[in-house]
Amino acid sequence: MNDNLDLFSGAAPAAPEPGGAPDKVLAKVQALRAQLNQWAHEYYVLDTPTVPDGEYDRVFQQLQALEGAYPELVTPDSPTQRVIGAVLDGLMPVRHAVPMLSIRTETDNEATGAEAFDARIRKELELAEGAPPVEYVAEPKFDGLAMNLRYENGRLVQATTRGDGEVGEDVTHNIRTIRKIPLSLPEGKGVPPVVEVRGEVYMGRADFVKLNERQQAAGGKSFANPRNAAAGSVRQLDSGIAAQRPLSFFAYGLGEITPAAQGGPDFVTHYAMLQTLRDWGFPVAPQVCIAKGAAELVAFHQRMGAERATLPYEIDGVVYKVNSLAQQRQLGFVSREPRWAVAHKYPAEEMPTRMEGIDIQVGRTGKLTPVARLAPVAVGGVIVTNATLHNLFEIRKKRVRTGDTVVVRRAGDVIPEVVGRVPGDRPAYVPNFRMPAACPICGSAVARPKGEANHRCTGGLFCPAQRKEAILHFAARRAMDIEGLGDKLVDQLVDGHVVRTLPDLYRLGLVALASLDRMAEKSAQNVLDALEKSKKTTLARFLFGLGIRQVGESTAKDLARHFGQLDAIMDASVEQLLQVRDVGPIVAESIHTFFAQPHNREVVEQLRACGVHWEEGAAREQTAQPLAGMTVVLTGTLPTLGRDQAKEMLEAAGAKVSGSVSKKTSYVVAGAEAGSKLVKAEELGVTVLDEAGMLALLAGDAPGAAPAEQG
Ligand code: IVH
Repeated sequence: MNDNLDLFSGAAPAAPEPGGAPDKVLAKVQALRAQLNQWAHEYYVLDTPTVPDGEYDRVFQQLQALEGAYPELVTPDSPTQRVIGAVLDGLMPVRHAVPMLSIRTETDNEATGAEAFDARIRKELELAEGAPPVEYVAEPKFDGLAMNLRYENGRLVQATTRGDGEVGEDVTHNIRTIRKIPLSLPEGKGVPPVVEVRGEVYMGRADFVKLNERQQAAGGKSFANPRNAAAGSVRQLDSGIAAQRPLSFFAYGLGEITPAAQGGPDFVTHYAMLQTLRDWGFPVAPQVCIAKGAAELVAFHQRMGAERATLPYEIDGVVYKVNSLAQQRQLGFVSREPRWAVAHKYPAEEMPTRMEGIDIQVGRTGKLTPVARLAPVAVGGVIVTNATLHNLFEIRKKRVRTGDTVVVRRAGDVIPEVVGRVPGDRPAYVPNFRMPAACPICGSAVARPKGEANHRCTGGLFCPAQRKEAILHFAARRAMDIEGLGDKLVDQLVDGHVVRTLPDLYRLGLVALASLDRMAEKSAQNVLDALEKSKKTTLARFLFGLGIRQVGESTAKDLARHFGQLDAIMDASVEQLLQVRDVGPIVAESIHTFFAQPHNREVVEQLRACGVHWEEGAAREQTAQPLAGMTVVLTGTLPTLGRDQAKEMLEAAGAKVSGSVSKKTSYVVAGAEAGSKLVKAEELGVTVLDEAGMLALLAGDAPGAAPAEQG
């Protein structure tokens, strides 16, 4: 750090001298402030921090200590004075020195809008047809609230909202907490005695999400969108609250300014003025650019439209301004709007409408989604008649009921959603929404797995809504491995009512298959061959293929190994299922519910009748599994077997493969470069095997280790 700042070198501040601070303290305080302002500017405005946070804090505390010792040196623009903890009774009205006008706002088509504006300007400026294109500045239209920042002699003295354009409200106490807004302007850069900088206070998207998370965690209300959050924060009476709200700022114009004749800056263009504001420490959006003629305005509109969704802050349109200030003066104003500027808004992304009812949709995985039926409304340029309510808990949280006016939101390509309800009268008693007990598509029981927010249809492959997904899952490589039965074919088979349930697959004939789109006889035959081949399978693959929720490949293997026979699994009680290794209550419940549905049992019977078969055994847990009840640890690199391969072989033999060695470990199988696990095994006296020893063990040649202790 800068040496000359280190007045105290960590020592306690010297006692104040009677009669005020000595000059050297004043100089020191000023140097500290300049340094802190520079770092803050680099951090908050330029987004390029140059010192670690700890260093900033250290210097900040030094300044605080000095100001504590010499209170007469405290100035309102000191970096220590951003949060002064003022709590006001109300916001004071302030008459603007120069009215804060609005701009003409249009929502039409990007090309015709820009062309019409350009044509108007050229006509007003009486430009000949062949005259060069008019120069404009194109800016994003930030979605926040307009702010007037008044600086006198380089210091922020007042911040006011737009209000009605003539009279706004004094929100200085809150605006001072915004780090992107300088409290003082640099010297030697031509800052005039009076300057009002205008721009938009907004909240970035990421900051908005974080704020809402914090609000929710603290049990406070969450905000509907970043603009509401920004506006609510700016109008807080307690600046301590505003200080915790992550607000930002972009400058885009001027209010009152010392005239050039009295020594103020003599700007020639709007763009040059923005460059100067940037130079004085104000954030100016990087997207702002010069555009020549209508064509470049259209290009800007399109570019911003494409970038919009990925910008770190929300914009609701673009603004075009004539660049030359002389031309601006020539154009003047109509009523309360400048003729030299226009805003082109994107179609609104949020709109209120009446919710006429709640329907239930069943997704490909069986999830029941409540969907709001809406009075048609244009949102973001599209007519919306449905919007998702996600699940029952969201409905409860948002307190929406049929007949309410709700806000619908559409952002980018995502499915429209109901954001919340617009407070208002409810005409009559409307019962609270309930999830149906039976699936509206197939009539199967609806269940909400413990700890989940979503309700699901238990119909599985019986449910038409879940059919395509169920068939694809059944055909998957790790399930029945039916080659050639992919997305497109399944779509055709289900949509054409050729296949309704899994057994229908095995009833497909060559003629029916070959008559489908893009299906030559040769490929139809290939599919039939693959189906035929898939009939001979394993119990584990078959179980996995049924698509029982919570039953993945490894649970299916465990079930097959434990019960040996499908009928035993189908008839097992929840308690019996809980006996299976790694099967907990949620999984057991899911398996039990699945086989309790008569239509699922019917599917299984029909598949067997179609010739699907596997080798069934007795429950093999004790008999056919030489390593049942044992725990084995693998370490190091085996000479021929891969780690997964070895693990699979051990598990197939009934062993549990564990990652750490304890005295309960039955064997440690060690390969090359075995490390601490081998050492531990030797310490604990656990039998250590090499790959050959493991293979011998699997072959039933036990080298005398005891099964692991239980419990
Ligand atoms: S210029 C005389 N530029 O849009 C022109 N306004 O009615 C004054 N806004 O509430 C405004 N982004 O807060 C201007 N780049 C931008 C803007 C912008 C957003 C807001 C402004 C005002 C409204 C215009």
